[in-house]
Amino acid sequence: MKLLVTGGAGYIGSITTQLLLDEGHEVVVFDNLELGHREAVDSRASFLAGDLRERESIHDAMMSVQPDAVMHFAAYALVGESMEDPMLYFHNNVVGGIYLVEAMSAVGVQKIIFSSTCATYGAPDVIPMTEETPQNPTNPYGESKLMLEKILLWARDRHNLEPVFLRYFNAAGATEAFGEDHHPETHLIPLVLSVALGKRGKIMIFGDDYDTPDGSCIRDYIHIVDLAQAHIQAVTKGGAGAFNLGNGMGYSVKEVIDVAREVTGHPIPAEVAPRRPGDPARLVAAADKARNELGWKPAYPELRTIIEHAWKWHQAHPDGYEGK
Ligand code: UFG
Repeated sequence: MKLLVTGGAGYIGSITTQLLLDEGHEVVVFDNLELGHREAVDSRASFLAGDLRERESIHDAMMSVQPDAVMHFAAYALVGESMEDPMLYFHNNVVGGIYLVEAMSAVGVQKIIFSSTCATYGAPDVIPMTEETPQNPTNPYGESKLMLEKILLWARDRHNLEPVFLRYFNAAGATEAFGEDHHPETHLIPLVLSVALGKRGKIMIFGDDYDTPDGSCIRDYIHIVDLAQAHIQAVTKGGAGAFNLGNGMGYSVKEVIDVAREVTGHPIPAEVAPRRPGDPARLVAAADKARNELGWKPAYPELRTIIEHAWKWHQAHPDGYEGK
């Protein structure tokens, strides 16, 4: 298949691009490189510099590429930043998404695999979370992703689009070639590993008074390769609707730090800090639908493997892509 991958220079987009190419698909990456890295784009992919917020830019790209399907990763994705500047998120994630949908329907491209998030659910009452869990986002980031899900449903009904929503839990890990390099970095695993690399003195644990066994927040960490694989299965097996992508196992912040200590052999000093606003106590996926309907089976469900792979990449790229 020929895929147009928006945000293909970012963390999840770059690794999905790599796996698509490994499986013999053709990939054109569309990215403005605001947060992505040119070095993260596999040399076998074509690259188009462009911004989704410029209507002509994505329309021209769609016209010239004429892809069989779109994978849409390009978005802002920081919860805290979205609380401070909601319009930034609605403009990029929603308006940019509308231009993408318009370009697809103008050119007659139907299939779109959309990077959605467990943040569309907000703080759930019941764990693990199925796709039927009520969607009540608690921040503009999650709201912007939910808005685009709804827009895509209308585009399905009115413009024959075929959307698939992949609702990610906590992406982590790396391949040999590509890994996680955000500026600023806010995610737990890369921050913990930067302590082990000697780039930070300690890791802050945001709250140890949650209603969890050790008091720190519980998340469902999913290997980036398994996430990428789900996209390929969604596009090749003709999946429809929404799919949660997680391992169904929750690990606390303290457990993540402990496993990272074992993997790196570094003491990784940690200090308890106040709660981070907007953090739900537990987010754990029920991903049976992806397993049953897409035949998706995570190859690397162990937290230890996820952290080992991330550690290998960070050791090889201590300053990220720029410092390589
Ligand atoms: N955490 C710390 N210290 C840090 C960084 C994070 O204790 O220095 C904690 C957080 O409070 C949270 C856990 O580690 O409890 C994981 O935090 P991340 O920032 O790595 O990930 P989030 O769970 O906040 O975010 C993820 C995705 C978002 C998505 C969100 C849904 O990255 O895109 O889940 O809530 F929106």
